[in-house]
Amino acid sequence: MRANKAESLARMADWEHGLIAARIFVDEDIYRRETERLFLRTWNFLAHEDQLKRHGDFLSAYMGADRILVVRQSDGSIKALLNACRHRGLSVCQADFGNAKAFVCPFHGWTYDSAGELKSGPNLESCYQGKLDKAQWGLVAVPRVESYKGLVFGCFDPEAPSLLDYLGEMAWYLDCLLDRRAGGTEIIGGVHKIRVRGNWKLAAEQFAGDNYHAIMTHVSVGSAWADHQAGRTASGFAKILGQPGRQFSSRQGHGMAGFLVKSSGQPSFAGDSSISEDQGIVADYYKATRAEAADRLGAERANGPADGAGLVFPNFAFLSMVLGSSTIAVFQPKGPHQFDHWRWGIVDKAAPKAVKEAMFRCLHVWPIGVADADDGENWGGIQSSLDGPMARRLKFNYQMGMGEEGADSAYPGMINPHMIGEFPQRQFYRRWLEYMTSENWPAVD
Ligand code: FES
Ligand SMILES: [Fe+2]
Repeated sequence: MRANKAESLARMADWEHGLIAARIFVDEDIYRRETERLFLRTWNFLAHEDQLKRHGDFLSAYMGADRILVVRQSDGSIKALLNACRHRGLSVCQADFGNAKAFVCPFHGWTYDSAGELKSGPNLESCYQGKLDKAQWGLVAVPRVESYKGLVFGCFDPEAPSLLDYLGEMAWYLDCLLDRRAGGTEIIGGVHKIRVRGNWKLAAEQFAGDNYHAIMTHVSVGSAWADHQAGRTASGFAKILGQPGRQFSSRQGHGMAGFLVKSSGQPSFAGDSSISEDQGIVADYYKATRAEAADRLGAERANGPADGAGLVFPNFAFLSMVLGSSTIAVFQPKGPHQFDHWRWGIVDKAAPKAVKEAMFRCLHVWPIGVADADDGENWGGIQSSLDGPMARRLKFNYQMGMGEEGADSAYPGMINPHMIGEFPQRQFYRRWLEYMTSENWPAVD
């Protein structure tokens, strides 16, 4: 990138001073640059292995702006294929998920097998006078597909580190969600998809570290509980977020905030039987299985920042043990002004059926039923504000908790010893800037 472009981006994403320019959320050129420099280099979440059980099982995903088909192969491996026909580029599969022996392009009928190889097409031999070398015209495969404890990611960049190195310290925290019990996790129910007005980074940075918003944005939940449960007030989140916890960030741009386990042995935010019977079932389940989690992961992670929100850079998010459910999500950018928000429920495979069913009901209350709508209103409102040329000139304040972060011997990564702060958001934009201004895969210092 030319120096003046890099300098201009550095001025806009001034993470060191906690100042981020509104323009990065609305600029078409910056968005295009993200699709090239960011999403073609990062590891991007594609699927949970549990969603692809049999040969031919597939689902549609995205890597930034590129449409991807994720397919279980005959040898049990998983392939990710660019969902763009090699003839004129039409997507060869329009379905969200399913099982297929072949993918037939709806335009002229080129037909690819589950490995993406071009196998046939109407009159292919005669129309090309036998000159088409089908072996050269298969779907483009994503060169790198790797899994971490059930989560499948893809990467286009040969220079990128392995998925495990890319996750870095974040893997330690992800284990609290993915590896509490033998057998790992599975997805419950289908995918919940909504188109959201707003720049994708608004959602990503929020899951990396913005617990602050819950006090105000999700006050409706507290109000609803207050209506039904004596002693619960609309200020519930202010109290909840006052409980002990940590914010974590890594140099790879990942971020998370999680509560420490209460002296009762229950995660602080996992749920409460006074709110709903289902939340009580789930909270009791976590309490009952904490010793097993401690055996597997150690006491720090069984008692540590186990329940909370997090982001794997750039756009894969999770809520772990929050109000009766755990979910994973991805924010698929659709231009600078909107994104698709996909969310799935995730449970321990070994959990009893009644717990899985309770979690399934809980996730439709929170986050899907309430919180995602609350958040979407804000993100859309911001994008509308930024239609104004004066508003676009603003620099936003990301300075909360500056200087509070440091090391903590109990937890890997960079730590803010509070639940609320904007330290992971600053680190998110630090990493974003490195991708956006680097000619090659940006190594971390
Ligand atoms: S675009 Fe796919 S067969 Fe022509
Ligand atoms: Fe929220």
